[in-house]
Amino acid sequence: MSMSGKVYVVGNFKGGVGKTKVVTMLAYQSAVTKNKKTLVVDLDPQGNATSVLARTGNITSIDKSITEGFKHENLVDQVTNIIDNLDLIPANTAFRNLSKILIEKYPDDENAQVFYLRELLEPLKEHYDAIYIDVPPTISDYSDTAMLAADYCIIVLQTQELSLDGASTYIAYMQYLADTYDSNLNVLGLIPMMLRKGGRVDEEILQQAKEKYGNNVLNTVINYQERLKVYDVEGISMKYNVNGKLDMWDKKAHQVFENVLAELEEHEQYFESLGIN
Ligand SMILES: Nc1ncnc2c1ncn2[C@@H]1O[C@H](COP(=O)(O)OP(=O)(O)OP(=O)(O)O)[C@@H](O)[C@H]1O
Ligand SMILES: [Mg+2]
Repeated sequence: MSMSGKVYVVGNFKGGVGKTKVVTMLAYQSAVTKNKKTLVVDLDPQGNATSVLARTGNITSIDKSITEGFKHENLVDQVTNIIDNLDLIPANTAFRNLSKILIEKYPDDENAQVFYLRELLEPLKEHYDAIYIDVPPTISDYSDTAMLAADYCIIVLQTQELSLDGASTYIAYMQYLADTYDSNLNVLGLIPMMLRKGGRVDEEILQQAKEKYGNNVLNTVINYQERLKVYDVEGISMKYNVNGKLDMWDKKAHQVFENVLAELEEHEQYFESLGIN
């Protein structure tokens, strides 16, 4: 069977807005509920997605890394299986030297540097339906290589912010990169994320976002949920109680991401119907 997986990068140039949460939950949803072959590529030297997914798969030691893959020009060998349908290319702190690695590989070819990840992902696309990239919150080689490797950007929109700056900066930068490198890149959707416990969605901001970005803004809002926090420590789970029913907090946590995924799929079908990607 031949596939050609789409590549998604989840972004915002602000730290701690829930990017890694979105990557890991969407990937889990895609693999477990949709039965899609799914890969997470962790581009963040902090390795948050790596920790969460390792816990999810009860993996205690990881001997592979994106750093090795970049050095040896082969990411296929660095794939680590997590659970059925879900694989990971793990990050480690050595990946903080990404810029150095790129310059050493291609001393005089900036173009080759920024497209290196795209090049390395190419042979993986035929094995996966969906590839999600997790990035650190900086304008850097991490964001550039990820954006230029991606078909679509998914943007996390903080609804408690007093402005849409985070998202606007990200989209403007994405456009700049796409133009500069003549690359095809679209915003698949903006996900309203409400991180403060007990906070409420700022309807004003949401309204502004909808005026500016129209239907790109998802109707689903991800609220603060204690269970989503617990997944950081215990790994992502879907526990069934003695009656064979899914634990209600797991159900709630997964339902919201199932809704997000469904909306994103609709957007993607629309883009694909335009023949853009
Ligand atoms: N909907 C949610 N409910 C409760 N906690 C959440 C939710 N989304 C994210 N969190 C928690 O908020 C913190 C930040 O989330 P996350 O690590 O996903 O952000 P990030 O944007 O990837 O951060 P960084 O910029 O450092 O990479 C984490 O502790 C995470 O568990
Ligand atoms: Mg993160």
